Amino acid sequence: MNIVERDYDRDIVTIAGTVDLSQDIPNVMAITRDLVPGLKTSADLVPFGEEGARADVYRAELYEKAPRVARLADDVSRRFENGTMAAVVPSLGLEDQPLERQRYILFALGNLLGTPTATEPRDQRVLWDVKVRTATTGQFATFSETDEEAEFHTDSAFQSDPEPIFFLYVVQAARCDGGMSYFANGRRVRDRLMQTSRGRDTLHMLYRAKVPFRIPPAFSHDPDVAEYSAGTVFGDRPLIRFRRDVILRALDAHPAPGNDEIRDAVNLVADVAFSLKTTDRKLPTGSIVFVDNHNGLHGRSRFSDAERHLIRVRVAG
Ligand SMILES: [Fe+2]
Repeated sequence: MNIVERDYDRDIVTIAGTVDLSQDIPNVMAITRDLVPGLKTSADLVPFGEEGARADVYRAELYEKAPRVARLADDVSRRFENGTMAAVVPSLGLEDQPLERQRYILFALGNLLGTPTATEPRDQRVLWDVKVRTATTGQFATFSETDEEAEFHTDSAFQSDPEPIFFLYVVQAARCDGGMSYFANGRRVRDRLMQTSRGRDTLHMLYRAKVPFRIPPAFSHDPDVAEYSAGTVFGDRPLIRFRRDVILRALDAHPAPGNDEIRDAVNLVADVAFSLKTTDRKLPTGSIVFVDNHNGLHGRSRFSDAERHLIRVRVAG
């Protein structure tokens, strides 16, 4: 990674040193299969859900028999408690393993960091493949399904309680110039807005107004029916909830007095976030980034390599 240090680049830490989780794979697989009888493939793993006791047993077993995975999860949790916005591990030592085995480690990491959530309402899987997909006619794809630029956003921005953490594991990095990741610290965005009267007016409004969000079809219960939600862009938890494209879509679908003010405010937040953007970085194959989804925004530049493949896991508190 070729990184020019900027002040706000310090919000992202790289967990240096060798991390090799491959030695924990056999035990993680055995523990997981023990608790999920009849599992055909690690791609099908779902949250433990109501059965919280099973999740506790799972964690306890991992601490005992998969110490490397447990140590990494503890390290990441500690960093988030200390205000880190994103933590990058350049390699988990898994890139030479079959994908089926890599996924078990990701499922374990998700459960050690908190309670992983289902990626979408239909299949309920924990592991979401971030891959270019062909959108159904008349629908719009969400960021994890396209090669277009993914502008600054909060993951699950349109849900009532976006997960505080998510991580992205790179199965295959884009073999082109694009697919670069970048971040903006929500605290810095708020503080920058405080410095101008227009910014203060914007903050004032976005702490109070319930802004509409169009729910992307992949996450709605019926992909053929437009679904909306509403929430404040700034708040206590999350500090920032943002995704310009789905807010603008919702405003366009429901003309109302005051929409122009919201549009201006949302555009200003996007501009300010962009001015505070961390240096673009390419996450290499085999790397992982853990992101504080309540205090930071993330984005990704467009790319052309259709084989780019990431796996995302979102983790509730
Ligand atoms: Fe995202």
